Amino acid sequence: MGIARKLAKLDHLVRGPIAQHFPPQLTTRLYSATRSTFLEQLAKERPDVDPPLHPVQMRNLYFRNDLGNAAGFDKDGKMLPFSYSVGAGFAVVGTVLIEPHTGNKLGSLSHNPFVPLPHSRSAINSLGLPSAGVDVVVQNIQHFRHAYDPQDFPIGASVMGHPNHEGAEKIAGTVECVSKLLPHVDFVEINESCPNTEHSDDGLTERIGRIVDVRNNHTRRGKYVPIFVKLGDFGNVDETIKFYSESGIDGLAGLNTQKDYETLRKDIDPRDRDLFDHYTENHRGGVSGAPIRGRAYQQIANAAEEIKQQGSDLKLIHIGGIATPADMRQSRRLGDTVVLREWYTGMMDAIATQKLEEIYARMVR
Ligand SMILES: Cc1cc2nc3c(=O)[nH]c(=O)nc-3n(C[C@H](O)[C@H](O)[C@H](O)COP(=O)(O)O)c2cc1C
Repeated sequence: MGIARKLAKLDHLVRGPIAQHFPPQLTTRLYSATRSTFLEQLAKERPDVDPPLHPVQMRNLYFRNDLGNAAGFDKDGKMLPFSYSVGAGFAVVGTVLIEPHTGNKLGSLSHNPFVPLPHSRSAINSLGLPSAGVDVVVQNIQHFRHAYDPQDFPIGASVMGHPNHEGAEKIAGTVECVSKLLPHVDFVEINESCPNTEHSDDGLTERIGRIVDVRNNHTRRGKYVPIFVKLGDFGNVDETIKFYSESGIDGLAGLNTQKDYETLRKDIDPRDRDLFDHYTENHRGGVSGAPIRGRAYQQIANAAEEIKQQGSDLKLIHIGGIATPADMRQSRRLGDTVVLREWYTGMMDAIATQKLEEIYARMVR
């Protein structure tokens, strides 16, 4: 058994009592400090899995199954060999930035703040978009493709403007980032929803327009790369679907993590509440997992219905709180518009509690 599996099993035994009884500040430090080390170890695991099949075609892409990791799990493409060997249907790398970025720091420490809320099957993070930068990500993707020649396993890249850039520089950086990724990825997810950095909606039409132009120019020379926009909230779903249907993108993904702490707190198990309160008061951060499951499902269901009403060609990727085979079945019942599913918090739970060889098979079959 690899180190990551041992660490995950150990963590599974102690994370409940730690969340409940340790001082929240210490718990936050512990998990923020160990997150990267755990992922580095997990990246070395190569479970021996027959990839579970639930074939999907979306535009020109073929997916061996409809479940992949959500953005944030594999910031720089180093987890691709793991994701491929564990049986994922696809992977999303990123969020990728045009230049390297350290993200938020936990006080004077160099760690990005994050903590699990184990009794609530949730987590809260304010990593603040750490990224090795697009050039490193491109190299990692190239190495993976060369070593594994992955079949029916599309690679997506999540992209957004650099948090240290503003205005024209930010848009130009985003467009350049997409342009560098286009020859190497199969689809792009534009992150319009990250709650942990200053991120305004200003310039949305220009931003999306320029990204679509870059993609269309690329198509003339190479393959068609579908573009998705990831949202934190579908807002007025009628307007949202109308706007994006005319924007030239291929679909929408949602939801990202959520920040309305007062409402979310009701779905936080009392044993995690001290930790939740400490974290949100000191680090803000976005909540993921079970507490956002209901709203993510509802918003995707509404968007799917609206797409039908408007005769739109948009596709949807369902993200938020997906953790069980029942969640997968419920999501698939939304029909062909909801073409793919992504998970993060539920996947981390599954890694800690189940055999690595079974986590995708159980969800996909
Ligand atoms: C630690 C962590 C880091 C994340 N980083 C990103 C990111 O870089 N870009 C992004 O679009 N979403 C990011 N997300 C949000 C996830 O992609 C996903 O939208 C959210 O966690 C809801 O899914 P879940 O309930 O399955 O976790 C992150 C989530 C977590 C927990």
